Amino acid sequence: MSETAPAAGESTEAAGVPQPPRPRVVRTTTLRRWKDEGRRWAMLTAYDALTAAAFDEAGVPVLLVGDSAATTVLGHGSTIPVTVEEMLVLVRAVARGTRRALVVADLPFGSYERGPEQAVASGVRMLKEGGASAVKLEGGTRVAASVRALVDAGVPVMGHAGFTPQSEHALGGYRVQGRGEEAEEALLADVRALQEAGAFAVVLEMVPAPLAGRVARAVDVPVVGIGAGADVDAQVLVWTDMAGWGDGRVPRFVRQYADLRGQLAAATRAYVDDVESGAFPAPEHWFDA
Ligand code: KIV
Repeated sequence: MSETAPAAGESTEAAGVPQPPRPRVVRTTTLRRWKDEGRRWAMLTAYDALTAAAFDEAGVPVLLVGDSAATTVLGHGSTIPVTVEEMLVLVRAVARGTRRALVVADLPFGSYERGPEQAVASGVRMLKEGGASAVKLEGGTRVAASVRALVDAGVPVMGHAGFTPQSEHALGGYRVQGRGEEAEEALLADVRALQEAGAFAVVLEMVPAPLAGRVARAVDVPVVGIGAGADVDAQVLVWTDMAGWGDGRVPRFVRQYADLRGQLAAATRAYVDDVESGAFPAPEHWFDA
């Protein structure tokens, strides 16, 4: 089966604008080919089957079950508390809701810090029990041995360098990384180390745009930016930020494409009003004897 043939009923044109054909199933090799072709792509987080299906149908090629679920789903103040067991529930749901996209599962804080053996054990669970196709972990040179061990074990790895939220306390809070000559070279070395260890792509978070562009040009694997400017191969956003489903506080690198929280609040108020006034349910909603 060709990876790139349009699926039955799948259009390669949207609103009259010719679109490149969509692969039936997105694989890590697809992303590498897109880098060679200079084709940009979008990645979104997903945490449940319904939103995963909506993003998959809308053509998002890569879905990340991010440990941002700690804040967006579980109500924690940071990504640090979420566990492998909690992540696995969400990864399974996203995998069940997805037909075409590559599903990447985040390895949460504490599930790979002890080294390659622990990283492989956690990564294997994400594929075997979660149904993910790849994992993501945070860090550069310091996690290269774990990345190599995972790849050797058959677990594709997406790296994550620049600002790494699991190291929020070590990094002194949410701040742009890679400023200054020394930090620039260190970041470039981190991404090169991830590539050499076998990572198929690298997320670059909160890095000055010119540096992110330099990094993307310096490596063969796709660089996925978040707060890293436009001169990279792909972009990722936390879906609740992108769609206005959060508490209204969004980082400046986010563009909000909808106001889902506002829309749900309006729909909920209308439902409550209808119940209180007796306008719902109406005869079409009940059963005759
Ligand atoms: O957990 C997450 O959502 C992420 C993205 C910010 C890349 O790691």
